[in-house]
Amino acid sequence: MQAAFIRRTGPPDVIEIGDLPVPTPAANEVLVRLHAAAVDPVDTYIRQGLVAMDLPFPFVIGRDLAGTVEAVGGAVRGFAAGDRVWCNNQGIDGRQGSFAAFSAVREDLLYALPAAVGFEDIMAVAHAGLTACLGIERLGGLAAGQVVFVNGGAGNVGRALVQVATGLGARVIATAGTDAGRATCRADGAAAALDYRSPALADELRAAAPDGIDVYWDLSGRQDLAFALAHLRRRGRIVVMSGLGAQPVLPVGALYVNDVSIVGFAITYATVDEMRRCADRINALAADGRLRGAIARRLPLSQAREAHRLLEDKSVRLDGKIIVVPD
Ligand SMILES: NC(=O)c1ccc[n+]([C@@H]2O[C@H](COP(=O)([O-])OP(=O)(O)OC[C@H]3O[C@@H](n4cnc5c(N)ncnc54)[C@H](OP(=O)(O)O)[C@@H]3O)[C@@H](O)[C@H]2O)c1
Repeated sequence: MQAAFIRRTGPPDVIEIGDLPVPTPAANEVLVRLHAAAVDPVDTYIRQGLVAMDLPFPFVIGRDLAGTVEAVGGAVRGFAAGDRVWCNNQGIDGRQGSFAAFSAVREDLLYALPAAVGFEDIMAVAHAGLTACLGIERLGGLAAGQVVFVNGGAGNVGRALVQVATGLGARVIATAGTDAGRATCRADGAAAALDYRSPALADELRAAAPDGIDVYWDLSGRQDLAFALAHLRRRGRIVVMSGLGAQPVLPVGALYVNDVSIVGFAITYATVDEMRRCADRINALAADGRLRGAIARRLPLSQAREAHRLLEDKSVRLDGKIIVVPD
């Protein structure tokens, strides 16, 4: 079968396209035929060797996939041939990734795809939506009226977060770097959309949230914690899930005298139950149009190397996900 794989970690050039044997599903696995996959930032970190994990070389890259069930292992009860499915957990914990014509996916990590949601549509929101839901779970939920500042609200995770948080009744103030991005934030439900490049951003945020914010959530990786602490209310929370190499200044006094806490998480270490709860939520939201993503590019699997290059090229503006489809 056609697959995109690496034999060592490194730059996008290490990605090879070639033939690998179709995997034989174990008793608890489902063999899924690929219809669409997405490129997530974490795929590029794993390819570079930045995530501490043993990779079974040749290692098929990729985390997400949507497709149809081809065959099931002997102990699988929840799926049958022909079912439409998706998953977001390949390529970690010694498992092979998703960028292949067929993948063997553990039944407990596979989700039914609602009839109303297309294969590419779910790939546009799966990783971002799961991330937003998991982060909100880690916060213990969001109460109606809480003020959430989303720095980078027009990106993939940012958009999912704006949609999910406003759906829970939170008042979201988002930032984006372009007029179009700010319009997207507002269309997704943000009460205010600010320009993160504005020299008056602090004043603009104060005007939009005169009593301060309850949650500071940065998707840009910059993690300006001093800025966050200047705006957080007492008992506010900072969510940290981007900025792998960031080393921001942390004004500890402003943190502890205001009972502020920092919640960090990585989707890679979410439990099977957490993932399923969030996947069920994503399915419900996507099925009735409350969770929508964008597709920036659609590339054939044979161009997986180019897909990684594109995602890493800071000079290329991507509004949405890169989707990979079988050749
Ligand atoms: N920990 C986890 O479990 C987890 C899971 C998923 C993703 N992530 C991480 O989350 C981050 C976002 O992922 P993504 O897929 O949403 O990426 P993305 O679509 O590229 O979004 C990045 C966002 O950052 C914004 N941005 C850029 N420069 C900014 C600045 N100076 N100030 C404020 N915002 C700025 C961009 O805004 P404009 O487009 O408007 O310029 C864009 O909306 C990545 O670092 C990714 O690795 C972590």
